[in-house]
Amino acid sequence: AGAPDKYFEGTVTFLAKHSVFLVRDAEGFRALSATCTHLGCTVKALDDGFDCPCHGSRFDAQGQVESGPAPKPLPCFEVRLTDSGALLVDTTKIVGKDFVLKV
Ligand code: FES
Repeated sequence: AGAPDKYFEGTVTFLAKHSVFLVRDAEGFRALSATCTHLGCTVKALDDGFDCPCHGSRFDAQGQVESGPAPKPLPCFEVRLTDSGALLVDTTKIVGKDFVLKV
């Protein structure tokens, strides 16, 4: 996902190629799946969470379900730094919602 300083604090960046949101907040970086856990539509970022345009599911900023029909939270993926200092979102590694990469 490139260098950490590409992303400003308080931003949510949609990485379309991998259908992932990269979130940078005061603590660091987190990555959330953009794929709705209902039937797989791509959710949209809002100021305070995520919204699915297909059947109206709402998720909070941590990806937890606020209203269905989505049955499960948006998974969080591991974010780490490569040897060259770039951000890497590993969509094969699901982590807890408290995971954060501090930089
Ligand atoms: Fe998201 Fe149905 S696919 S609410």
